[in-house]
Amino acid sequence: MTATSASPGPVLDRTDPIPDIDLVDPDPARMATHDRVFAELRPEHPVFWHGPKSRPGFWAVIRYAETRQVYRDSASYSATHGMTLDSLRTEQDPASGMMVEVTDPPEHRRLRRGIGAFFADGVVADLAPMVDAYVRELLVGVRDRGEPVDFVEAVAARIPTYAAGMLLGLPPEDLEWITSRTSRVFLSDTTSDAPATLRDEAEQANGELLGYFAKLLRTARRGSGAESLVQRMVAGTDSRDSLTIGEAILNALNLAIGGTTTTRSLLTNLVHALTRFPDVFQALRAEPEAVPLAVEEAVRWANPVRHLARVASRDVELAGRRIRAGEPVVVWPRSANRDEAVFASPDTFDIHRHPNPHIGFAAGTHSCPGTGLGRAQMRATLSHALDLFSACEAAGPAELMQSNFLHGYARLPVRFTPA
Ligand code: HEM
Repeated sequence: MTATSASPGPVLDRTDPIPDIDLVDPDPARMATHDRVFAELRPEHPVFWHGPKSRPGFWAVIRYAETRQVYRDSASYSATHGMTLDSLRTEQDPASGMMVEVTDPPEHRRLRRGIGAFFADGVVADLAPMVDAYVRELLVGVRDRGEPVDFVEAVAARIPTYAAGMLLGLPPEDLEWITSRTSRVFLSDTTSDAPATLRDEAEQANGELLGYFAKLLRTARRGSGAESLVQRMVAGTDSRDSLTIGEAILNALNLAIGGTTTTRSLLTNLVHALTRFPDVFQALRAEPEAVPLAVEEAVRWANPVRHLARVASRDVELAGRRIRAGEPVVVWPRSANRDEAVFASPDTFDIHRHPNPHIGFAAGTHSCPGTGLGRAQMRATLSHALDLFSACEAAGPAELMQSNFLHGYARLPVRFTPA
């Protein structure tokens, strides 16, 4: 079949509309401009070829409708090559077929059922009171210190490891070590000529965590601890859905990293937003019943996930662009969550936004199974902060984490005024 002039058809347009910008460069000052850049590009370039100098090019998807389409169409957009630009490879990820995040259907369904016990009805309800008590204890500690704190170190880094530790049944004495490693796994190097030290650190932290879970689960297998984690993952070895010990190790790692890094960043983004918009904090104090809607708005407005990578597994058309099999397709959910075609006044942090069909927990095959636990941590933090403090304000410059994958703060000095 030949293309005719009667129908425009998909175009093979590889003109990069932002040739002077590198979306993969994690330099905090440059990344801070991305939300504005995306806003300018969305109307004319919902899907565009981006060829940064730092690495091979990829299709960038920045509008809500197409982001949703990529998430939902696993047959066309495969997750098996890695989920971040730093880990993306031409060949399949070595964990593909074993770890949920980098596995496509139909195998993905078996793995998702394999970790299903952690997300069964009632699990979050059982954990929530403990998470709630832990969060309150941390925030009371902040109040009693009576001086500004680094919110990351004092609160945001601790809550998700505690929650993931409770979920997975991890030894409490290991949580601090786990926090120190998970805080590094998504660091990325700037694209300047500086030596690639942060990526090395990130890979080392990932390797150490993998070693940790391998040891924990193998030991548990012999019946000397952490049995419940293994039992819940490899229960019923005769069942079609049970995981092998290798799969259990990789998915425990996936849960620990997926559950902590995102939530930590989101908590920092929420509190950073509260320091920027004191009226939001006061509005919530006057109306604490708006907390659940405010949490959803935080997942939209302050979303921590900058991008997620897929690779086209066949020739496809997206927003009139022709994408060839084998080409990377990268969605930018923070941009989709500010798509003016879906969200009125998208730049406003609106604690009453409803409905709020944000795509901060993804959609389709890989949609986040940890939404309940994530929301519980956010609600507890916000509710106790509103109860214990009458104001919160910046107590020094906030420092963004150097990561092209996660948007979150590495340092966030905050002064909380006791209520
Ligand atoms: C509140 C903060 C959270 C946010 C913003 C978030 C966001 C996401 C997103 C966007 C994905 C999709 C990844 C993709 O499409 O490639 C995802 C997947 C996942 N998340 Fe979350 N997440 C959060 C909390 C959690 C928690 C608390 C857990 C577990 C305890 C968790 C576990 C996972 C897992 C295992 C996957 C992979 C699912 C699959 O591939 O089928 N997340 N998350």
